[in-house]
Parts: sequence; structure tokens; C-alpha cells
Amino acid sequence: MADEPILRIEGLETRFFTEEGQVNAVESVDLEIDDGEVFGIVGESGSGKSVAALSLLGMVESPGRVTGGEIWYRNAEFAATVAEDTPEAVDGDYVNLQALPDRVRRTLRGTHFSMVFQDPMSSFNPSLTVGEQIAEAVEAQRRARANPRSVASRTQGYGLSQYLMSLVSSSRDFVTEESRDRAIELLDMVGIPDPVLRAEEYPHEYSGGMLQRAMVAQALAGEPEVLIADEPTTALDVTIQAQVLDLLARIQAETGMTILLITHNLGVVARMCDRVGVMYAGEIVERGTLTDVFDSPVHPYTQGLLGSVPELGGSGGAGGRLQPIAGNVPSLLDHEMPDRCYFADRCPKAMEACLRKPRETDVPDRPGHSAKCYLAAEPFDEATALPDGYFDDGAAVAGDAKSAPGDGADVASDGGETK
Ligand SMILES: Nc1ncnc2c1ncn2[C@@H]1O[C@H](COP(=O)(O)OP(=O)(O)OP(=O)(O)O)[C@@H](O)[C@H]1O
Ligand code: SF4
Ligand SMILES: [Mg+2]
Repeated sequence: MADEPILRIEGLETRFFTEEGQVNAVESVDLEIDDGEVFGIVGESGSGKSVAALSLLGMVESPGRVTGGEIWYRNAEFAATVAEDTPEAVDGDYVNLQALPDRVRRTLRGTHFSMVFQDPMSSFNPSLTVGEQIAEAVEAQRRARANPRSVASRTQGYGLSQYLMSLVSSSRDFVTEESRDRAIELLDMVGIPDPVLRAEEYPHEYSGGMLQRAMVAQALAGEPEVLIADEPTTALDVTIQAQVLDLLARIQAETGMTILLITHNLGVVARMCDRVGVMYAGEIVERGTLTDVFDSPVHPYTQGLLGSVPELGGSGGAGGRLQPIAGNVPSLLDHEMPDRCYFADRCPKAMEACLRKPRETDVPDRPGHSAKCYLAAEPFDEATALPDGYFDDGAAVAGDAKSAPGDGADVASDGGETK
């Protein structure tokens, strides 16, 4: 592992400007991700995990926008390439992705950064064969190597808008034989049987698990330095989940690729990650090594999540299923967000101090372990706790908990697999 992080995210903010108001989906996120590590982001549904990932890739779509922060990516070769046209985006070996023109940023997708989504069906173009799409990703990587300023292929960052564009795109024969062969190799590598035949099939002819593997193959086609896997196994049954996770772990060990793994399954984090960040209401509320965060969590939200998985350290499976934390996830609408710890109305340890927003605080004697909580460095003193029911009458703080009851159970939707 290199000394300097491969990614340094500073003060990242992403907002959606909706008819209901401004949604603060990602709020002042700072994150350093080391070269070659598997960093997990975990949190309940709606906590901002996917939007944070899309923000990293510059893929947030209207009505959303990254409204603040810097994303520094370390790559000396890339820094030298962009220094000519955009010197203000470069600092030594680091490039601030937020300062790049869109067309330059796009060239990173699939080549330097790849993404594996939760729903493989929506990530493939239904009108092209799987082999063709993987071959295109290989081809795009070759073009990008030859000319770092070239643009992305038809299938990179696939989504609805790209799909609509692809319907008017007719050229299908621009991938070389070499790229097609590489696509077959990649399908073989991710465990697709009869890869030569399966490469000729369309996405709808694949099962969910197979398509997920094919998406991993497509993501690997560009030999990315950083793979962002957003709930890569949520839609799969437990056996296939384990196979896809094993596949990712094997590839990571072989290539030294950095993985940002997003999930609401704590068992998946325990099985795969070196370090973990816990997200709540758009913020990273606790971070540290897997051991620090899982064995000695200091934030009551993390404690609640972990406490709800009785067998996290055990055999996992159905017995490790997460239970909801009492209370509701905040709506993230700016005018409803309280000016205090966002977790206070669900926190069993909320104190007078928590009515002001806590700063990120280091946990003493645990380098790299920190939390946005007054209890990160101080023990809980029951005498300072707010009375039971303090937030119940709605008078204490404007804008508490607007989501539908039961939102908190989303993190409970997966079984907990373990290492
Ligand atoms: N297109 C959009 N328009 C408005 N709000 C959005 C949009 N996309 C996301 N959001 C809001 O951003 C917040 C964070 O969403 P995000 O999808 O990142 O959550 P998540 O943590 O990935 O949840 P899940 O575990 O369900 O995938 C949510 O409150 C969501 O409502
Ligand atoms: S800051 Fe206070 S309310 Fe927030 S999590 Fe910590 S103890 Fe609970
Ligand atoms: Mg998500």
C-alpha cells in the first residue's frame, strides 16, 4: 500500500433541488481511501451512500448537483496529462476531479474508475450482446491508454439517458477481434460457463447472478484502479452473493485494485473491508478500521446497527439478520434538517450538548478512528441525558424525523454474512 491515499475527498456536498425543497443528500463528507484497500460505506437506506458514489464519478444527474468540496485523485501520469490544459486542477501527483471539464472527467470512467451497480439489468444495454458490451469497455480502455483525452464508450456509465441515446447509435462493429477475445477471457475469469457462447447472448438471456458477474467483468475490462461497488450483491440469493463477494476479493488480491464497497449489509463489510465509514443522514458519522468500528464503536448509531446483529461475529445467514433501530431516518430536506446532531431523536444517549451539531472527533489512542459525536472522546454520563420523550412532542427541535415509520428497517433488509 502506498503512503499517500489514492483518493482524498474533502467537504463533499451534493444537493437535489426538488419541488419539495433542497435535499442535502451528501453533507460535508471527508474521506481518504488508501491505494489497494477495501473501504466499506455502510448505512441505512436513504443515508446518501449511492449519491456519494455517483458524486465521486461525476455522475449525479439533474435535479442533483455536487455543490461543494474537492475530490483529489492520485495518479502521476494522469496529473501530467491534465496539467497542460488545466493546471489549476493539479497539485503534484493529485488531480482535483471537480476542477476538470466534464469531457476530461468522463475519460476516467471505466478506465481509472469503474462501478458495479446493484441492478445489473439496468446497467447493460438490452440491445447489445453482453460480449459486445464488455469488448467495448476493453476497447475504450485501449483508446484511453493510447489517447488519454479520448471520450467514453457507449456503454460506460450506462443508465436511462445513455440507453435512450444508444437507440439512435447504429455502429456495432468498431471493436477489434482482440477486444472481443479479451471480453471472453473476462467472462471466463468471473466464472461464466461457456464464455464463447454466452458472449453472444443478450442481457435478458442471463440470470441475475450471471449478469452481476458479467457486470464485474465489464467493470474490470478497463483495468480500473478504483472499483466502486454499490450494493453489488443485494439482489442475489445468499449462495450467489457469497460467490460474487469471493470473486471481488480474489480479483482485489490479484490486482491490488482499490475497492469502495457500499452496502447496508454489515456482514458483507465484516467479510470484505479493511476500513469502514458509517453514513447517517448524508454524513460519515464514524470511521476507522474494521476492528475499531465493529469491536469498539463509539457512535450510538453504529452501536445500534451492530447491536442489532446478534451473530455478526458468528455464522451469519438468517440468524445474523439486522433489526431496525427505533425511530425514523431524517428526510434530508434542508428546511426540515434540525440544527443539532441528526441522530439525537433516535439516540438513547442524547444529552443537552447534542442540541448543537457535533464535530468529528478523534477517539483517543485509536489512530484513524473518529466519530461525529460528543461521546467519541468522553464517556457517557447518565446525569446529562435528556429526559425520555424529549423529542416526542415536536416542540424540542423543529423538523424532527419526517420519513415514514419503518424507514429505519431498511438496513435490516439483508442477512448478515460474516468473514
Ligand atoms: N434524483 C433524486 N431526486 C431527489 N432526491 C434524491 C434523488 N436521488 C437521491 N435522492 C435523495 O438523496 C438521499 C440519498 O439517497 P441515496 O440513494 O444515496 O441513499 P442510499 O444510502 O444509497 O440508500 P439505499 O441503501 O436505499 O440505496 C435520499 O434522501 C434520496 O431521497
Ligand atoms: S452527538 Fe449526542 S445525540 Fe448525537 S449520537 Fe452522539 S450522543 Fe447521540
Ligand atoms: Mg443506494
